[in-house]
Amino acid sequence: MEPTRNLALELVRVTEVAALAAGRQMGRGDKNTSDKSAVDAMRIVLSSIRMAGVIVIGEGEKDEAPMLYNGEAVGTGEGPKVDIAVDPIDGTRLVASGNLNAIATIAAAPRGAMYNPGPFLYMNKIVVGPEAKGKIDIERPVADNLRAIAKARSKALEDLTVVILDRPRHDALVAEVRALGVRIRLIPDGDVAASLMTCWGDSGIDALLGIGGTPEGVISACALRGMGGEIQGKLFARNPQELQKGEEMGYDFCKVLTIDDLVSSDDVFFAATGITDGELLRGVRYFGSGAKTDSLGIRGLTGTVREILATHRWDKLNTLSSIKY
Ligand code: FBP
Repeated sequence: MEPTRNLALELVRVTEVAALAAGRQMGRGDKNTSDKSAVDAMRIVLSSIRMAGVIVIGEGEKDEAPMLYNGEAVGTGEGPKVDIAVDPIDGTRLVASGNLNAIATIAAAPRGAMYNPGPFLYMNKIVVGPEAKGKIDIERPVADNLRAIAKARSKALEDLTVVILDRPRHDALVAEVRALGVRIRLIPDGDVAASLMTCWGDSGIDALLGIGGTPEGVISACALRGMGGEIQGKLFARNPQELQKGEEMGYDFCKVLTIDDLVSSDDVFFAATGITDGELLRGVRYFGSGAKTDSLGIRGLTGTVREILATHRWDKLNTLSSIKY
């Protein structure tokens, strides 16, 4: 069989430029400027990729997001018809404060394959790596899932490490996990990187639990398809009005969203580049005449996970590109 085109390799170029632009804003305390610089850079490279892409998960609706808005067409318009989910910075606050694990990320799947969360931005999630795949059930108590994960990983509960976003809404969850003796990594932001860490050999992370972004859940699902992990989720309504709105729009907050619901095809592509340092990826290193980036390019169909280290030279790039490096 002829090898087919691996869009992930081209998508890495998109996340690289986003990280190069956003990395310059590290520690400046301004999350909007870093986000805008990542979006601007991403959009320029996206327009050169041969695909007929439609943004399903982007920066929001057209009125509030001038670029990479939901429904926007991206790519050259020729080639594969794909849905695009983009998070130019997962961890805008992490970049603003120079904290760990901010990444630029994008995913592509055949047109119609990605779950569209509409305006419902929160989802309760459980994410595990390959060994615990098929052993979890978000409908079951947390203790049952942690015991199942520990068994699958041949570990005692005391040796498990779960990541939870550090939010007041997780106080009860944190107390429950602590009571079981399981180790916890409370993270300030960035649950895409944390989801991928469950599949990453030496990260030491066994699971991610709790309520985070639905868009981030869909993007993570695309990567997990290639990495062999699993995600289950359930939309989470922050108040009765949101629940009612969801029901009127046909969203079911009781339904378990499996990885297949979040992205229904294996023919998916994922790319991410480190902006700040993290366990998964190194952050951008600027060395005066250029910079180094550390990226992942993942293909769902083959399960190939590429780690791509790149050296970028400003003298060359600034003569070729409309991006100001
Ligand atoms: P952004 O950088 O895109 O704002 O997302 C950061 C993040 O921590 C995500 O990784 C996570 O899914 C979501 O925010 C959680 O939302 P909230 O900060 O509202 O709890």
